[in-house]
Amino acid sequence: MSAVTFSGVEKSFGSVAALRSLDLAVPDHAFLALLGPSGCGKTTALRILAGLELPTAGKVSIGDRDVTRLQPRDRDIAMVFQSYALYPHMTVYDNIRYPLRIRNMSESECRKKVTDVAATLEIGHLLDRFPRQLSGGQRQRIALARAIVRDPAAFLMDEPLSNLDARLRMTMRGEIKRLCHSLGTTTLYVTHDQAEALTMADLVAVMRDGVLQQVAPPAEIYDQPANRFVATFVGVPPMNVLPVEFGRDGIQVAGGVLGLSDDRRTACLKAGVSDVGIRPEDVELVAPNQPNALNGEVYVVEPMGNETLVDVRVSTGRLVVRTRRGFTAAIGSAAGVAFDTHNACFFDAQGLTRVHRAPSKGGE
Ligand SMILES: Nc1ncnc2c1ncn2[C@@H]1O[C@H](COP(=O)(O)OP(=O)(O)OP(=O)(O)O)[C@@H](O)[C@H]1O
Ligand SMILES: [Mg+2]
Repeated sequence: MSAVTFSGVEKSFGSVAALRSLDLAVPDHAFLALLGPSGCGKTTALRILAGLELPTAGKVSIGDRDVTRLQPRDRDIAMVFQSYALYPHMTVYDNIRYPLRIRNMSESECRKKVTDVAATLEIGHLLDRFPRQLSGGQRQRIALARAIVRDPAAFLMDEPLSNLDARLRMTMRGEIKRLCHSLGTTTLYVTHDQAEALTMADLVAVMRDGVLQQVAPPAEIYDQPANRFVATFVGVPPMNVLPVEFGRDGIQVAGGVLGLSDDRRTACLKAGVSDVGIRPEDVELVAPNQPNALNGEVYVVEPMGNETLVDVRVSTGRLVVRTRRGFTAAIGSAAGVAFDTHNACFFDAQGLTRVHRAPSKGGE
């Protein structure tokens, strides 16, 4: 087991810059999720670490070894692909055993290893089958078993759950988390699913267009996003962002006025803040035409079972409010919305977060 480090890694495919000077470290034993939208360079980063792609510049290390130019087989990593990449003509047993072939291991040692790993993943009863005789979730487990069978220095996983249905994805994300935790193997896990990243990882690295945006524990990514992109990419429904102006009494948003503490106001003015961001769970619905609130119109109400999402259109945009189960309102009816500006964050014109959400809740 080892830390994994990218230092100034760049990768271009012709005129496409897939990675722009990536500096990223996955600490020993840590589970890091590399999160970002399609095409942002996640798979490219993973393939460079695996040795399937050469970087245009920079280096990658596993532990204290510079592996930038090593062959994939000499890197001591195991990769799990989105497609699972099982050998169709081999039984499950032979698929799992495959990585052990280059070791000088007796057949009885191999058998013990494979059956132990199969027991851990509860696939012992499938060992004589062929991949085509398995469900997607079972294939996923075989791919994981093949990865863990030889105790690699690091696991690399590229969207390993994306071919599974939503329910199985949730089950498997818990199981992979437990497995990686108990093995303690350094893991780099690529996903475009923010829920997977937040629920599974010790650290989340958010990328956009080949540029790393922020690396932090999940709670920090959620509560203290470095910029507007991270703020709106992480969280479902996304953070509400609206233009803001600073008046004498507080902030003006969509024609309403909300109170703001003096120190936050000073910090915002100094930083040239242009927009305010507030999460749906931090917004509340109030009666129309109240002081310290904005006025809007209900665009749609979405009951979710345990809660209700209300989309309110205001003069400068929309605000999604997460509210109690059973809430109802007529489409097109007038609504007031309000929020405590301590829970808001403020962005400058470049989208950088210049004033973060206050650490604990407080009234104005
Ligand atoms: N072999 C290649 N040749 C040319 N361009 C490539 C190649 N591989 C990747 N790219 C480009 O590099 C960029 C990053 O691709 P990459 O596959 O790393 O994205 P990703 O974040 O994994 O996306 P996804 O979530 O869709 O898998 C994209 O613009 C892609 O089109
Ligand atoms: Mg990819």
